Amino acid sequence: MSRQNGYSKDWSAYWASGALTSLPQDFRANYEGEIAELWKDQCDGLPEAPRILDICTGNGAVALLLAQCLEAAGLSGQIVAVDAARLDTGQLARRWPDLAGVLERIEFIGQQPFESFTPKDGAFDLLASQYGIEYCDWAAAAERAFSLLRPGGRLAMINHAPDSSMLETMRAEQRDYVVVDDSQAPKLIRRWLEGSLSLPDLQQRLGRAEQVLRQALKRKPSPLLEQVWRSTAQIMRGSARELAAHRTAIGEFLDQVSAGAGRLENMLRVNEAIERQPAWTDVFVDAGLEAVSEREIVYQGRERVGCARVFVRPD
Ligand SMILES: C[S@@+](CC[C@H](N)C(=O)[O-])C[C@H]1O[C@@H](n2cnc3c(N)ncnc32)[C@H](O)[C@@H]1O
Repeated sequence: MSRQNGYSKDWSAYWASGALTSLPQDFRANYEGEIAELWKDQCDGLPEAPRILDICTGNGAVALLLAQCLEAAGLSGQIVAVDAARLDTGQLARRWPDLAGVLERIEFIGQQPFESFTPKDGAFDLLASQYGIEYCDWAAAAERAFSLLRPGGRLAMINHAPDSSMLETMRAEQRDYVVVDDSQAPKLIRRWLEGSLSLPDLQQRLGRAEQVLRQALKRKPSPLLEQVWRSTAQIMRGSARELAAHRTAIGEFLDQVSAGAGRLENMLRVNEAIERQPAWTDVFVDAGLEAVSEREIVYQGRERVGCARVFVRPD
């Protein structure tokens, strides 16, 4: 995007949950199928001890896939993974104990915007980015990618693409957030937490909110609406004592809902920016990279999930 990303707080909250991918409804554990295959292919032709950088890594989904490929090929090498959000690798290893060993192969650097990333050791053989670099300032990120690659090095990406099935999922999720907002439940509960609404008033006003959420759920199942509806119903019926004991958890839940809405807004804005400017990847050529390939990724032979592109830095 052509502006600095203002959603790092929302992404930090999301990655702190230990999720591995940014699209948990589509990919609960790590990305697989055609997406994983693409990253496996990128391990071909790398030197014995390659230096790899995963840009906008999140909780390291792509870095992990690449580390697993290197391990399977018996290659050493170094994998660095950067993201503007705060990353908690301890929490990640606890949530995914089977991955603890491979996670150790990755050097995670959180709170690091890619546009200003300066590595301590030299250039990279491979820059990887999945639903990532398009979240940066495009021109600045392209220049940084060029300067971080060794001559002959590759930039491989899977980018959001217009009309993808993921975009449909995101739009549906955004409609759910609109229902949550319309129900007023988060706003009312927040006012109670802040002390500007008494508990009896809150519980009485949540009656309408609960009804709005229940009716929306009847029309269409949705994990988000289900969660907000359940919490609203519990708060409506809870005793003063029970609710006092859960104040912190209730506050955390509201923060989670609000971070989820922010994260989704960020993804939709990036997708819309790409829709408006389909030639956005020209910035990589302008920065001095050569376009090698471009193709659509179709997951399980039916879902369009993005566009795979490879650029090289000429020798
Ligand atoms: C859609 S997520 C993708 C995460 C991961 N690559 C994946 O495929 O699941 C986008 C990520 O980009 C990060 N991000 C956004 N702007 C950034 C920037 N300027 N520099 C580094 N990371 C950034 C966000 O914090 C977020 O973690």
